[in-house]
Amino acid sequence: MDEILTLLVFLVPIYVANATPVLLGGGTPLDLGKKFLDGRRVFGESKTIRGFVAGVAGGTVVGGILAYAFPLPFFSGMQTQFVAGFVLSLGTMMGDAFGSFVKRRLDMEPGRPFLLDTVLFLIVSLILVYPLVSGTLYDIGNIAFLLVLTVILHPSMNFLANLTGLKKVPW
Ligand code: CTP
Ligand code: MG
Repeated sequence: MDEILTLLVFLVPIYVANATPVLLGGGTPLDLGKKFLDGRRVFGESKTIRGFVAGVAGGTVVGGILAYAFPLPFFSGMQTQFVAGFVLSLGTMMGDAFGSFVKRRLDMEPGRPFLLDTVLFLIVSLILVYPLVSGTLYDIGNIAFLLVLTVILHPSMNFLANLTGLKKVPW
């Protein structure tokens, strides 16, 4: 496993992208209110265009600052790390929407807890960023650490967001 600090810094744009929509989201839904073949919503009311864009922008800005302030061994240089911040943020929002897509197909209400939902954004961002990574990021120890930490941290952050009134449900 690589140094824990480098893995934590790697996660920051992903987590920022994931959290920003809770603060800045709302308005027109990403699926424009449309239904899928099964008659249920494609993504549902919780996924909005503004939230998606805010998540990608927030993660990219923070990732850009980190690319300058904290060069990571997983990228060949500052520019690559900056682009990776964008790709990770985009992957996070795509994974988040995909999680909702799967939940709607399983007829789960928005806000219902679902294990896949908890890690899908991380998995999709890890897949998308693959072409930009040059270091040892995809080592089994690193991946296990990132997954386990997220399974613990993501629900905890949602719980906190609910306590502080930012989120309607604690998950
Ligand atoms: N949000 C948003 N746009 C997005 C993602 C999230 O506006 N693309 C905002 C919404 O206000 C949403 C909140 O962030 O209610 C929490 O998002 P999330 O927990 O992902 O939504 P859930 O209510 O759990 O819905 P789902 O079951 O679809 O995951
Ligand atoms: Mg959710």
